[in-house]
Amino acid sequence: MPNKLVAGNWKMHGSLAANAALLGELASGGDLGVACAVCVPYPYLGQARDRLDGTAIALGAQDVSEFGEGAYTGEVSAGMLAEFGCRYAIVGHSERRALFAEDDATVGRKAAAALAARLVPIVCVGETLAERESGETMAVIRRQLDAVAGVLGDEVLGSVVFAYEPVWAIGTGRSASAGQVGEVHGEIRGWLRERCAVADLVPILYGGSVKPGNAAELFAVENVDGGLIGGASLVANDFLAICRAA
Ligand code: G3P
Repeated sequence: MPNKLVAGNWKMHGSLAANAALLGELASGGDLGVACAVCVPYPYLGQARDRLDGTAIALGAQDVSEFGEGAYTGEVSAGMLAEFGCRYAIVGHSERRALFAEDDATVGRKAAAALAARLVPIVCVGETLAERESGETMAVIRRQLDAVAGVLGDEVLGSVVFAYEPVWAIGTGRSASAGQVGEVHGEIRGWLRERCAVADLVPILYGGSVKPGNAAELFAVENVDGGLIGGASLVANDFLAICRAA
């Protein structure tokens, strides 16, 4: 597993035509000097796999079912994602927690399902603005992390990527400050060190309004091992510039 990673989260954006243009530009981006991935909507996995085949850009999904095969209408299993060439699956994104009622335990089970199919789960954690303002940030992050470790067991934490995404910084144009990011990433690193021999090798990504203009500063913060990029991952030059900044 790379210990630095920049992953794009396209969210529910794209079309066959728009993706063809974006993927083509990404594929000709050359050596970016860091592990990169794009997490595309499910229907476009085949298109992205075919276009990125032979490039250094890996493929990921934005979610995964906690279940294996069976009568689970609408779900997509980790095995299916693996078959389509996915290396990563985002789990616990705050949009899924808030809009689709995913709780901490569900996020843990999804991470476990991903690992069982040899995918790398990108486990997202992060506080809302209200939680930050009431001084609960670290408690919320620890609660979210503990739930995942409770399901997975400490011994596999070295196979997971974590992403700190403060909810108030997502899609707002207002990234967390370097100081705020350093504080939370330090907490996550400390939490990992309490549980895992390879804690320092586990990537901890930052996500939330990362742009070409602030990427270098954010990635220079201690314990920041790359980023999870939303809006800027839809613009090839911006995403490539962010990858190069890592
Ligand atoms: O998962 C990425 C994310 O939620 C951040 O989105 O648009 O603020 O970069 P954005």
